[in-house]
Amino acid sequence: MSVPASGPLQGQRILLCVGGGIAAYKALELVRRLRDAGAAVQVAMTAGAQRFVTPLSFQALSGHPARTTLWDEGAEQAMGHLELARWAERIVVAPATADLLARLAHGQADDLVTTLCLASTAPLAVVPAMNHRMWQHPATVANVALLRSRGVQVIGPDDGPLAEGESGPGRLREPDAIVVELAAFAVPATATAPPGLLQGLKVVVSAGPTYEDLDPVRYLGNRSSGKMGFAVAASAARQGAQVVLVAGPVHLATPPGVRRVDVRSAAQMRDAVAAALPADIYIGAAAVADYTPRAYSPNKIKKTAGGQTLAVDLVRTPDILSEIADRHDAGLKLVVGFAAETDNIADYARSKLVAKRLDLIVANRVGVPGAGFESDDNAMTAYWPGGERDFPPAPKLRLADDLVHLVAERLRGDTR
Ligand code: CTP
Repeated sequence: MSVPASGPLQGQRILLCVGGGIAAYKALELVRRLRDAGAAVQVAMTAGAQRFVTPLSFQALSGHPARTTLWDEGAEQAMGHLELARWAERIVVAPATADLLARLAHGQADDLVTTLCLASTAPLAVVPAMNHRMWQHPATVANVALLRSRGVQVIGPDDGPLAEGESGPGRLREPDAIVVELAAFAVPATATAPPGLLQGLKVVVSAGPTYEDLDPVRYLGNRSSGKMGFAVAASAARQGAQVVLVAGPVHLATPPGVRRVDVRSAAQMRDAVAAALPADIYIGAAAVADYTPRAYSPNKIKKTAGGQTLAVDLVRTPDILSEIADRHDAGLKLVVGFAAETDNIADYARSKLVAKRLDLIVANRVGVPGAGFESDDNAMTAYWPGGERDFPPAPKLRLADDLVHLVAERLRGDTR
C-alpha cells in the first residue's frame, strides 16, 4: 500500500476500535483510508466485531495483529494494553454500537475496547452505526450528549437504508468522509514535534455564514458551511499558532487547541473579531452578509403586512475585512481574504485584493457541483501583489494545509 509523504492525518498514531455491528466490514475500508491519509493504525475489536469480520483481515490491512481480548498473553507480551493506550494519539471507535456508546459514556472497562478507551488520554472519536430506533432512543441520545459534553467527536450517523430493509438515521458514515472529519478535528502537536510554521503567532480566523434576523423566526443567510474556515483554523493550530476562530452559525466540531467564539450576525462577527485583536494574522474566510434588515421586528411579521409582495429595507453591513486591513498598524503582519465568485474570478479577486488593501486573497468558484460552499472539496487560486498560485481540486483539509504553508511563505516574504 503506498502511503503519501503528506496526508491530512500524516504521522498520527490511530487506534481503531471496531464494535460489533453489520457495519464492521466497512471498518476494513476505513483502515485503508486512514493509512492512505498518512496515519499509522492499530486495531482492537470487541467480541461482537469478531462475529462479523476476522482479526486476520484487519491484520492484513493495518500491518499489525488486531487485538481481540484483554487476556491474550502473547499479545500482552508484544505490547501490553496500557502501552497500546499510551501509543494511541487518537482513538476512533467505528462502528460504535448503542451498547458500546452506553459503556463508553458510563466509563465501563469490561472488555479490551472499553478498557483501552478508559486508559487513554487521547482524543476520542465515535462513529455510530445502528438501527434508527436504537439511535433515536432517549437512552442513546443521553449517552451521546454525555460523550459530546466530554469533548468526544461524534461522526455521523448518516440517514439512509439500514439492515433488514429499514431506513433512517443510523448508517455508518462513509470511510472517506470519516477521514475528512477526523482531519478537521486537529490533534494538538506532541511535545516532541518540531516547531510549526506559525509557532508563536496569533491567528484570528472568521468562518461560516452570518444570519441577519428579520423577526424571531426568520433570517437572511447564505449557504456557507464553514468547512474551509474551520479547516484553516485547525491547520494553523497544527502549525503551532494560537488560534481564535470566530464562527457564524454552523454545525462543526471545534478543532482542539482552537479558541472558538460563536456569533450570529455580521455586526456580532465584527465585534468578536475586533475583540480578538491584536493578532499577527487575520484570515477572513466567513461569508459575511453584505446587507442586514434596517429594522428587526420583535413580533413575527404577518402576511397581512405585505399583501402579494413584501419589500424589506436592507442596509449595508460593516466590511470586516476592510476594517481589519486598515488596522495594519495594530501589529497585524498579514490580512487574508476570500472571494467566492461565480464568474470573472481572477478580475474580481484581484480588484478585491486592491480595494480591501489585502496581502493575500483566495478565490474560488461557487455555484458549481463538487466545489464551493457545501462541498468537502474545492479548487482555488491565491493572488497577492505581484504573484498568484493555483491550488488544483482537493479536499478542503488539504487545501487548508497548502494555504497555511503559503501564508507562512508570504510572512517570510519569500514568495514571488
Ligand atoms: N467580507 C467581510 N465583511 C463583509 C463582506 C465581506 O469581511 N461585510 C469579507 C469576506 O469574509 C471575504 C471577503 O470580504 O474574505 C470577500 O467577500 P465576498 O462576499 O467575496 O465579497 P464582497 O466584498 O462582499 O463583494 P461582492 O459580494 O460584491 O462580491
